[in-house]
Amino acid sequence: MSLVNALIRATLPLAPRPVIRFFARRYVAGTTLDQAVATVRRLAGQGCCATIDVLGESVTQRAQAGAARDEYLRVLDVLPSERLEANVSLKPTQLGLAIDEGFCRDNIAAIIEKAASLGGFVRIDMEDSPTTDATLRVFRSLAARFPGRTGLVLQARLRRTLADAAALGAERANIRLCKGIYLEPRPIAYEERDIIRNAFVSALRVLLRAGSYVGIATHDEWLVEQALAIIADLGLRPDQYEFQMLLGVDPQLRRIIVDGGHTLRVYVPFGTHWYPYSVRRLRENPTIVRAGLEGFLRGRLDR
Ligand code: FDA
Repeated sequence: MSLVNALIRATLPLAPRPVIRFFARRYVAGTTLDQAVATVRRLAGQGCCATIDVLGESVTQRAQAGAARDEYLRVLDVLPSERLEANVSLKPTQLGLAIDEGFCRDNIAAIIEKAASLGGFVRIDMEDSPTTDATLRVFRSLAARFPGRTGLVLQARLRRTLADAAALGAERANIRLCKGIYLEPRPIAYEERDIIRNAFVSALRVLLRAGSYVGIATHDEWLVEQALAIIADLGLRPDQYEFQMLLGVDPQLRRIIVDGGHTLRVYVPFGTHWYPYSVRRLRENPTIVRAGLEGFLRGRLDR
């Protein structure tokens, strides 16, 4: 990584919120449900389906978790009337995992119950490694209670993931596989890009071979190609997997995947708690900020 990018990464958390908001606006649909629905509608016009995420995480008060649960119930109310192919994604710490595991499970259960009554689906995102075991427990309990209505995320970065993939594959769990955004200590996670890529491919093969439905969540074209090779090798039908990408990242690759006849789901986050998500996205790709700053400085110098 260049020195400038490293500097941007390190100083992003110090930037004023309006600056973060400006650079990260491509990643977030807006602050309101109407804006999220408009984005999902636009994506549907491009042949993509969506998963809606109400932004928020790490809540410390029951009332905040209750408010997040109610907002998800509101999203689920709106989706059928809009006739949009969309499900929802949520974060366990947004629904109270750091307060009490049973409380969190009950909040997520209320959301899945509602989704199930409408024929919908709820994806439980994976957060940083201290939450992995509890998230797996919550998921397994809810997957047993609402079969086919919920799925989990696995992070290829974690050393444990191949074993988790084998166990969850045997349960035919619905899994989104991604690299993992949280920086973890070396004893827990791989650090090298190529090792993470290979771990992704290994976990994907294990899951697909076992018959799990997998959301292949990446913008890494090399991984997309590897995934397509495994899919062809196993002779899978397009309804046995999907690709997933984040809003605001590489629409051209999105188009290529859709044109190839594959399902492509876009992660559409919205809400007032946009800050931590936005910082994570910008740290992942500081060139967005760098290009913006360079353009700004060039404009000043030209004047
Ligand atoms: P990589 O980071 O190597 O990116 C490949 C290319 O994509 C880059 O070279 C660049 O061109 C482009 N790109 C990637 N990120 C970009 C950005 N922010 N802005 C602009 N361009 C960018 N993680 C997690 O820990 N828990 C979770 O629950 C989820 N959920 C999730 C859902 C979905 C639908 C996706 C796509 C991703 C996640 N992630 C996640 C995030 C994931 O772990 C990972 O951080 C990102 O997907 C980036 O990894 P890539 O595989 O895209 O590779």
